[in-house]
Amino acid sequence: RLRRVQLLVTGGMGFIGVNFVRSTLAARPDVRVTVLDKMTYAANADSLDGADPSAAGDTDSRVRLVVGDVADAAVVDPLVAEADVVVHFAAESHNDNSLRDPSPFVQTNLVGTFTLLEAIRRHGTRYHHISTDEVYGDLELDDPGRFTPDTPYNPSSPYSATKAGSDLLVRAWVRSFRVQATISNCSNNYGPYQHVEKFIPRQITNVLAGLRPKLYGAGQNVRDWIHVDDHNDAVWTIIERGRIGETYLIGADGESDNLTVLRTVLELMGQPADAFDHVTDRAGHDLRYAIDASKLRQELGWTPKYADLRSGLARTIEWYRDNRTWWEAGKAGIEQRYAQGGQ
Ligand code: NAD
Ligand code: DAU
Repeated sequence: RLRRVQLLVTGGMGFIGVNFVRSTLAARPDVRVTVLDKMTYAANADSLDGADPSAAGDTDSRVRLVVGDVADAAVVDPLVAEADVVVHFAAESHNDNSLRDPSPFVQTNLVGTFTLLEAIRRHGTRYHHISTDEVYGDLELDDPGRFTPDTPYNPSSPYSATKAGSDLLVRAWVRSFRVQATISNCSNNYGPYQHVEKFIPRQITNVLAGLRPKLYGAGQNVRDWIHVDDHNDAVWTIIERGRIGETYLIGADGESDNLTVLRTVLELMGQPADAFDHVTDRAGHDLRYAIDASKLRQELGWTPKYADLRSGLARTIEWYRDNRTWWEAGKAGIEQRYAQGGQ
């Protein structure tokens, strides 16, 4: 286990990043964290409240926020210079947004990763790159196969294409410049602090706000759900025990179609099974993602703690119920944007 580590976490005010920072500070007293975040629409300034359980006030907190752009070398370089480990979560992350305007995806996901890698190369810092299973494209609904680290890259959307490109930059920097990097590609995360634009929080907060949930198409598309804490445990496992230059797939055998997930949310929230609208499908909508995580499980001994999507969803619903002030302000604007596209 690494001791007295200075971490740089990019995108640490977004969904997965802030859960990573919070669980790290809670479990690892010797870790200090600098968060670099541009505070885009996807960030929520309240997410770090009370994140350091050992701090009496802001002054002695082990976490510090630097507001800045990962594509800005002048900001990035000194932060990388002082870090022992860099974990790169920052990204434009939403497929629907990438269909409306791909430009920030190219800038942040490609130019941002390039900028970070150049600083990593200069300073020889340990780097972990967070990526997605979407780089592999999609599987047919009746395909018995799952994604493995050998599956060819075949991304569908502007979002997944820029994430695929960022992964390839990392691989090239490992081979050409011997940077000390690992990569993980994870399936769909759910849990607290997820933006209300995403599928599960959108439906939960629609019910809480008195709106009808919205299902794209027939809801047959399959996603491989994993609780965000399991993802972040796996990230720490790879940072500590992963082999440099390797790619690890992270997943928890959580395949479910969207209609089933929505019906579970409705049932857990005491709603009738048909209390939702079918809306315009996503253009180019990937059918199915499925992860074979045996390399991570067998080589590094990782196992997920949340075996059951239903109980994880129940806890997530409770969190959105208990934290209305966290999500309420941004909700109407997001729904307005969806309504403009018939979604
Ligand atoms: P998110 O959209 O909730 O958060 C992204 C964060 O990055 C925000 O705080 C935002 O302000 C910040 N950011 C955006 N552009 C930036 C820039 N140019 N400079 C600095 N900060 C910037 O995303 P998320 O769902 O937490 O995803 C985090 C990472 O995990 C992404 O790399 C994503 O591709 C990957 N991932 C997500 C999932 C998932 O299910 N959400 C699954 C696998 C992988
Ligand atoms: O697989 C990992 C990826 O998971 C990450 O790389 C992405 O950052 C993350 O956003 C997520 O991508 P998806 O496109 O799968 O997630 P999203 O929450 O947008 O949608 C999940 C499924 O639900 C998808 O099939 C589309 C559908 N959907 C989505 C919304 C927002 C609906 O049916 N209704 C909705 O309102």
